[in-house]
Amino acid sequence: MTPLILRALQGETLPTPPIWFMRQAGRHLPEYLATRAKSKDFIDFCFSPDLASEATLQPVRRYDVDGAILFADILLIPIGLGRSVHFEKGVGPVLEPITVEGISKLTIDGAADRISSIYETVSKVRAALPEDKTLIGFAGGCWTVATYMIEGRGTPDKEKAKRFAYENPDAMDDLLDALAVSTAEYLVGQARAGTQVLKIFESWAQGLSPAQFETLVISPTRKIIHLVREAGITVPIIGFPRAAGLNMITFSNALDLQGLAVGTDTSMGALRPHVRDGLCLQGNLDPLLLRMGGQAMLDGVDRVLDDAAQGPHIFNLGHGVTPDVKIESVHGVINRIRER
Ligand code: CP3
Repeated sequence: MTPLILRALQGETLPTPPIWFMRQAGRHLPEYLATRAKSKDFIDFCFSPDLASEATLQPVRRYDVDGAILFADILLIPIGLGRSVHFEKGVGPVLEPITVEGISKLTIDGAADRISSIYETVSKVRAALPEDKTLIGFAGGCWTVATYMIEGRGTPDKEKAKRFAYENPDAMDDLLDALAVSTAEYLVGQARAGTQVLKIFESWAQGLSPAQFETLVISPTRKIIHLVREAGITVPIIGFPRAAGLNMITFSNALDLQGLAVGTDTSMGALRPHVRDGLCLQGNLDPLLLRMGGQAMLDGVDRVLDDAAQGPHIFNLGHGVTPDVKIESVHGVINRIRER
């Protein structure tokens, strides 16, 4: 029996869409907080297969969602490339901003091997996960990871990274290439260890000119997909060029994708005629409604289901679950979908 998420990604329009939530594991779950407390550092936590596999499985146990997403982070790849990354309370990720010289010193060879404890997490999860649940692996898109490497932390406008790309096109190409090669190796490793879907989080794809979108987002993503396929990996790939506007259409038509994750700002119904027939769309409840709960949330769920009903669909949020989300609200969303 093929799991529902894989059926949707094969192009099947199901009567009830399969469900998972971005950031379904994490701080809104008391069991996550208890497991997380066993490791003082978030990155150590990601590199501990026992703890990370437990965190991956928790939302599946609690919510009976159709998918488990590997518990890891998009900023592990820079560690493999020899950069320092840590997480500061109240700030988020902090990296040493990279320079042109730093790019030439990235340790591309063996970058994915240096973070290969993640593959052990994948194997542990797959061994424990029921057959009808799909294990989703992931990596950050090259541009999104590059923004953190260049800016040193999350910023609202990514101006420093965009300037860097305009001023140092060759160094930027080298950085994106290092990321594409190491990310492809990392995704291949995940798939060999048991992930059944691969998702590329290009979370900061918004606000790029079409020309920069082509060089910074489409081109390196094409390289990742090419290398993954060349290695013989056939699992479906979901792209997530979040909030990229019309660039999202260019993205999905330029790349060999089986799924396109859609942010809150885009109608899946309006998007469908512009993308490949049978492409599975994933999304896109406003995460704010999940934080609010109540009737507004249920109405929002209905709108998403109606909007996506004309083709293959995986239900998700437009972005991640936040720590203030109530468990009963997540149950409310799932029940609404499954009881329709
Ligand atoms: O449940 C899941 O979705 C699985 C795991 C996952 C995490 N991060 C765990 C995590 C995934 C898929 C990510 C991806 C990720 N990480 C993205 C892309 C997706 C998105 O949300 O747009 C980005 C931009 C990051 C970088 C990152 N990691 C940020 C901005 C933060 C938040 C820092 C903070 O303090 O809020 C993280 C940390 C992080 N990654 C947490 C979790 C559960 C919280 C850390 C903790 O538990 O203290």
